[in-house]
Amino acid sequence: MNSFYRNRKSGIYKLRSDKKIMAIPTSRAKEKGEIKIDAEACIGCGECVEVCKDFSLVIRDDKAEISDSPAFGCIGCGHCMAICPTGAIRITGRAISPEDLFELPSAGSAADYGQLISLLKRRRSIREFADRAVEPEVIQKILDAAMTAPMGLPPSDVNVLVLDNLVKTRRFAADFCDYLEKIRWFVSPWFLALMRPFWGKANDEMFREFIKPMFDVFIGQMKKGINVVTYDAPLAIYFYGSPYTDPADPIVAATTAMYAGESLGLGTCMLGAVHPLIQNGAKARRFREKHGIKYPSREGLIVIFGYPSVKYKKGIRRTFASATFMN
Ligand SMILES: Cc1cc2nc3c(=O)[nH]c(=O)nc-3n(C[C@H](O)[C@H](O)[C@H](O)COP(=O)(O)O)c2cc1C
Ligand code: SF4
Ligand code: SF4
Repeated sequence: MNSFYRNRKSGIYKLRSDKKIMAIPTSRAKEKGEIKIDAEACIGCGECVEVCKDFSLVIRDDKAEISDSPAFGCIGCGHCMAICPTGAIRITGRAISPEDLFELPSAGSAADYGQLISLLKRRRSIREFADRAVEPEVIQKILDAAMTAPMGLPPSDVNVLVLDNLVKTRRFAADFCDYLEKIRWFVSPWFLALMRPFWGKANDEMFREFIKPMFDVFIGQMKKGINVVTYDAPLAIYFYGSPYTDPADPIVAATTAMYAGESLGLGTCMLGAVHPLIQNGAKARRFREKHGIKYPSREGLIVIFGYPSVKYKKGIRRTFASATFMN
């Protein structure tokens, strides 16, 4: 049960915060959000109660109050203070505060479906880049857009590594190929035969037909001075999690970043090959440490960006493996 009290003078409800109360942990927050309700300002509309899926809030005597039976304890999503018409509710902790609220851009200024579908259809994975840097303000715009991405549980546990010029993306790719040389046994015939009963047919086929040739191509091409890991893009951003992260979070953020890059006139390409290969073992740890990657994580994705040096004349229609509507 939550412990809370009402300050008689101010009428403000507060969670007792003399000791940190455990909540759903992330790498950034272990405590619950602190809820403060200004009873004077509250008009009892109940909108905060409706949007709080933690059941942290209730209406009593026509005023919002802190519930004594939340699901987890305030997760700091901020929805209550974003919907409150009078600014009567304030959440602090879990990396959020009222200072994080901003005025909504007008509905008319937002992309409509027609604009969005044009952006989506015009996108191609771009691996050929003009000899032009991506400007710092453009990089910041991509990060600002990616930070709007939804996350499994706030606050976001997505980490990003930004390689903001060609020298850095090339060095990262060269180091990665050096590292692949050191773990080449991983795709050797004896190891794949050993692993077959453990990781099954699909993984076995994937390793033999894709991962092993990929090692050969990455390493072989890099020896010839051709970088097919990051394609000599002038910008690469690696999105990865922490041990707490919902595995999908870095992918959602990376996708948002990719479309932001597209909207800024950049060519983009997702690179899935690096992340899974730098998760396990001492050599992988050393590679991560060398490049300032803070955590191993279940999922992660690199997106490369740059001004394209090629121009596609047609789009390509894509389909899902299946799309079944439930009976
Ligand atoms: C999760 C994911 C991982 C990918 N990894 C790579 C990669 O490592 N190298 C690469 O050249 N392209 C990579 N791609 C790009 C795909 O090859 C590309 O999306 C696909 O061929 C379809 O082309 P399109 O994006 O132009 O529609 C990846 C795409 C996704 C979604
Ligand atoms: S921040 Fe989210 S979880 Fe916390 S009280 Fe508000 S709506 Fe509920
Ligand atoms: S949304 Fe604001 S005004 Fe409405 S009940 Fe909640 S705290 Fe009170």
